[in-house]
Amino acid sequence: MRGLTNISDPNLLIGSASSDDAAVYRISDETALVQTLDFFTPIVDDPYLFGQIAAANSLSDVYAMGGKPITAMNIVAVPTDHLDLDTINMILRGGADKVAEAECSLSGGHTVQNPEPLYGLSVTGLVNPHRVISNAGAQAGDRLLLTKPLGTGIISTAIKRGICSPELEKKASNQMATLNTPGSAIASAGLTKAGTDVTGFGLLGHLSHLCRESRVTANIDSAAVPAIDPNVPEFIRQGCVPGGSRENLRLAKEFTTFASNLTEEIQILLADAQTSGGLLVAVNQANLEQAQDVLDANGANIVAEIGVLTGPSEKSIVVS
Ligand code: CO
Ligand code: CO
Repeated sequence: MRGLTNISDPNLLIGSASSDDAAVYRISDETALVQTLDFFTPIVDDPYLFGQIAAANSLSDVYAMGGKPITAMNIVAVPTDHLDLDTINMILRGGADKVAEAECSLSGGHTVQNPEPLYGLSVTGLVNPHRVISNAGAQAGDRLLLTKPLGTGIISTAIKRGICSPELEKKASNQMATLNTPGSAIASAGLTKAGTDVTGFGLLGHLSHLCRESRVTANIDSAAVPAIDPNVPEFIRQGCVPGGSRENLRLAKEFTTFASNLTEEIQILLADAQTSGGLLVAVNQANLEQAQDVLDANGANIVAEIGVLTGPSEKSIVVS
């Protein structure tokens, strides 16, 4: 987005400069719009499940800003000559059911023909402008909480290679289809000002944005970061690593100090590109227990305390 012509508007509270999850535009002292869009190619074979995952992923960036989604619009690109109408309808039904679960109105959309199928949504939400969760709101001393285990990029690759068990495939798909509703709950309870969701740049990539904007260092205890399944290191050894995750790790080495005894598998897991990953929020020590309770009570898959923030230093992340 750098270099594009843009007018400056004081009501655009969060735009594209800070690598945040969504744009935030103030319309009154108590109300701001949260706007985002996301779409991708199918990552699972089941069209209904793909629709659900794509919708949960698109809605996630509103939750990650502390907002509540109100309207959503379909973005559909389909090869109508290769994909039958039933399959297309199943994708859209999966998406619509997930949008309804979020108590959000599906208000329209747009469809084009494309050689490769793509699906996602443009989502609008509302947030109190004083309660926004952004990359910039964290402080030294804050604890880091994660709401979904890592490894969906690795599992998705294992699924494509046909070496993932049906049980694990189901577990990963269900996790990816889980809404990040704890984000709006913890924001409206006033328990956090800083956070993001963990998606394509992996835990380390998204965390580095938070560290940069908040001018802090993240100290991560790798043993406290859960993997989605105990077989994840074995899948990594078998080469089930998406290209994006390897690239994430290559970039992460520029801003991360890894303890010398950390295995390559752990480093890859921490950099693994997630689809519809969990929330990563920074909370003040005094709010820690209450924040854990609110996340847990509002649908978090897990509530893992994975590290602590300290003042700025040369490398923005230290992994022990
Ligand atoms: Co995001
Ligand atoms: Co996005």
